[in-house]
Amino acid sequence: MAMTQRVFSGVQPTGNLHLGNYLGAIVKFVELQNIHDCIYCVVDLHAITVWQDPAELTRNIREVTAAFLACGIDPRKHIVFNQSQVAEHAELAWVFNCVARLGWLNRMTQFKEKAGKDRENASVGLYAYPSLMAADILVYRATHVPVGEDQKQHLELTRDIAQKFNNDFGDSIRAHGFGEAFFPLPEPLITGPATRVMSLRDGSKKMSKSDASDYSRINLTDDADTIAQKFRKAKTDPEPLPGEEKGLETRPEADNLVGIYAALEGTTKATVLGQFGGSQFSVFKAALVDLSVAKLGPIGAEMKRLTADPAYVDAVLADGSARARVLAGQTMDAVKDIVGLVRS
Ligand code: TYM
Repeated sequence: MAMTQRVFSGVQPTGNLHLGNYLGAIVKFVELQNIHDCIYCVVDLHAITVWQDPAELTRNIREVTAAFLACGIDPRKHIVFNQSQVAEHAELAWVFNCVARLGWLNRMTQFKEKAGKDRENASVGLYAYPSLMAADILVYRATHVPVGEDQKQHLELTRDIAQKFNNDFGDSIRAHGFGEAFFPLPEPLITGPATRVMSLRDGSKKMSKSDASDYSRINLTDDADTIAQKFRKAKTDPEPLPGEEKGLETRPEADNLVGIYAALEGTTKATVLGQFGGSQFSVFKAALVDLSVAKLGPIGAEMKRLTADPAYVDAVLADGSARARVLAGQTMDAVKDIVGLVRS
């Protein structure tokens, strides 16, 4: 098996897909389609590491799929599927649970944040989550992973797991004719002006699905009025916008809004400041609302259309899962041979 270049990424179906998911990840998924083979996954097994209402989970799986399609991912040229339909993710995750070290997982900041003070009561799945994430990527031997900045540490762990597997089983990998290394060390793609979109209410907090205030985020399904209202109420400071990026350094809210504008427009913060430097926020926010509504309006409408047709969405997932299963099965067979497990 040659190490071909392949993109993999995933989004959790936990509701409230927002501008951070869109600009930090999904926009890049769309761009990468032109230059790579891509696999985009609705990671439902990750979602259940915290309690999910079953009916809502089903709805959310279809909604994330609809978002992928509405944003422009082509499910015929690439693979779009949900994780639980390809059992090899969970199977490889178990092997990786035996490769990863407790010390590595103990360092994961996302677990600490999500488990909070009541660590003893967190699910074992939440703790082992990064091992499943490594399996998601490596079961396709993917080489590039577009994500927002918050996933950087998980990607580093994925590389550590791949490296340790390649080292621990080096002799067997060579003996089975897979060359010097079986798994690639996947590269995170964390690029552009919006790798960490912040809350509209507090420039020091990440925009998040779980924030109690809906005003902290722009949801992909928000209508034009809601988008306008949320940006109008977004926290800012009293100064006009600076003319250069350096002037954003101590102004997190301004920095965030400029980053959002730049990412939506497909340009840089410097260019946006070239246009709006010296403007009051009222002027800049009005332009930001227009741009957001122009970009997100059609996506929200298409998501609505698609979620009203669950049979179509389910058919896309079934087709993608069947194609993903073939690739994942090949990797899993090889892993079993390498590890020394007998298979028929
Ligand atoms: P999730 O579902 O929390 O988020 C999906 C993607 O959106 C990005 N993102 C953001 N980017 C910028 N600003 C924000 N405020 C923001 N919030 C979220 C995330 O970085 C992510 O790229 N563990 C992953 C899902 C996953 C995965 C994978 C990703 C499971 N297996 C394998 C890549 C490869 C997660 O919880 O993403």
